[in-house]
Amino acid sequence: MTAKTIIEPFRIKSVEPITMTTFKERDRFIREAHYNPFLLRAEDVLIDLLTDSGTSAMSAEGWSAIMRGDESYAGARSWYRFKDKVDEIFGFSHVVPTHQGRAAERILFNVMVSPGDIVPNNTHFDTTRANIEFVNGVPLDIPCQEANDLDSEYPFKGNMDLVALQTAIDEHGPEKIPLIMITVTNNSGGGQPVSMENMRAISEIAKANGIPFYIDACRFAENAYFIRLREAGYGDVPVEKIVREMFSLADGCTMSAKKDAFANIGGFLCTNDADLAVKERELLILTEGFSTYGGLAGRDLDAIAVGLTEVLEQDYLHYRLASTEYVVRKLESLGVPVAKPAGGHAVYLDAKRFLPHIPALEFPGQALAVELYREGGIRAVEIGSVMFGLDPHTGEEHPAHWELVRMAIPRRVYTQSHMDYVVETVEAVYQRREEIGGLRISEGPRFLRHFSAHFEHC
Ligand code: F0G
Repeated sequence: MTAKTIIEPFRIKSVEPITMTTFKERDRFIREAHYNPFLLRAEDVLIDLLTDSGTSAMSAEGWSAIMRGDESYAGARSWYRFKDKVDEIFGFSHVVPTHQGRAAERILFNVMVSPGDIVPNNTHFDTTRANIEFVNGVPLDIPCQEANDLDSEYPFKGNMDLVALQTAIDEHGPEKIPLIMITVTNNSGGGQPVSMENMRAISEIAKANGIPFYIDACRFAENAYFIRLREAGYGDVPVEKIVREMFSLADGCTMSAKKDAFANIGGFLCTNDADLAVKERELLILTEGFSTYGGLAGRDLDAIAVGLTEVLEQDYLHYRLASTEYVVRKLESLGVPVAKPAGGHAVYLDAKRFLPHIPALEFPGQALAVELYREGGIRAVEIGSVMFGLDPHTGEEHPAHWELVRMAIPRRVYTQSHMDYVVETVEAVYQRREEIGGLRISEGPRFLRHFSAHFEHC
């Protein structure tokens, strides 16, 4: 093979037009959206990098599966196709389908967590954290030390700090820790992978203390492929085998099929504990649905079964991780401050260094997200003091640890020329960064304000 370009390993047979807009129009749209990209109309967005969740392009096979969907209330063919695929890939004794990842979390923590219990994780995703807090548990984030340095090229920045885990167990006692979780890849930590070595060590600590170990599996295939690329001894191991090994270390998992299953909706919860599965199914029936569909249509279960097969294709995963790295390397070469190394599903701009003249509580990340939209119609999300800066109990504002802007890359949706356009847009904003001012909140709720707050210029 002589060509160096890693091409998209698919061709396009169905398209969705993008409506072109001018700078002037976008300036008006974002003003009308109160400088909050969540409040834009999707049709006014050129490149939508708000999330990689539920935004994937399904394949011809996936759409065919939708037509095969069996909508029988109980025991549908779709359920068995879904269940067989989940069993084959993840290898747990019980699977409980849910309408998305957070529904799996709600059920899991309801049956496992008592008030005052502590749940360690590398970094809890927002909904995981919120669902633990909702049952009066305490989420504990213990990412590895290397995760604190945005410039470090450490290959497994998603790892958990094992010393901190042991300390938490010693301090609180294993009876206060109903489960240990690991999020693969670590979304809140920049889409960084967790090594097999780290998962094995967590599993051993968990077993030694009689604590169940669960994986938040949203981006499991991306994580497995990072292991193949970066961890000694895995270079020749088929990705399915790496996945099997990862999950053989755990007692269960939660999954949002909106990520690494290419589905527009769906999720599930797995466990090896038969008694727990009974309790989970009881709760499932209350709010999701019967145990063979759990809030999903038969057609969704079929789409997930196909997506789970496709996501493990090596050519796809190779292209997927290379395409994210492509954007990071290009931005880096332009001097744009970006979190390193490239993660799986997203590129994280460091707004603190991009806009050093804007103080944290004038929301540099939000200001940068607004400018990405004005400049090129790109929609991204702030992960900084807007998202994390307000204490909902005291109402106090404090600067968040990071001021990041996440550009999440939907799976199989955008081409390399779209990504070149993204890089050029970021570069244009970077060149005029000194003119960009801060924002303040003119109206906003106390919870989840990044979704709905209104902003104005300082
Ligand atoms: N866990 C992780 C690591 C996630 O990234 C998400 C969702 C969930 C759980 C919840 O899954 O959305 O199906 O209920 N993350 C999306 C995002 C929303 O944009 O990162 P869900």
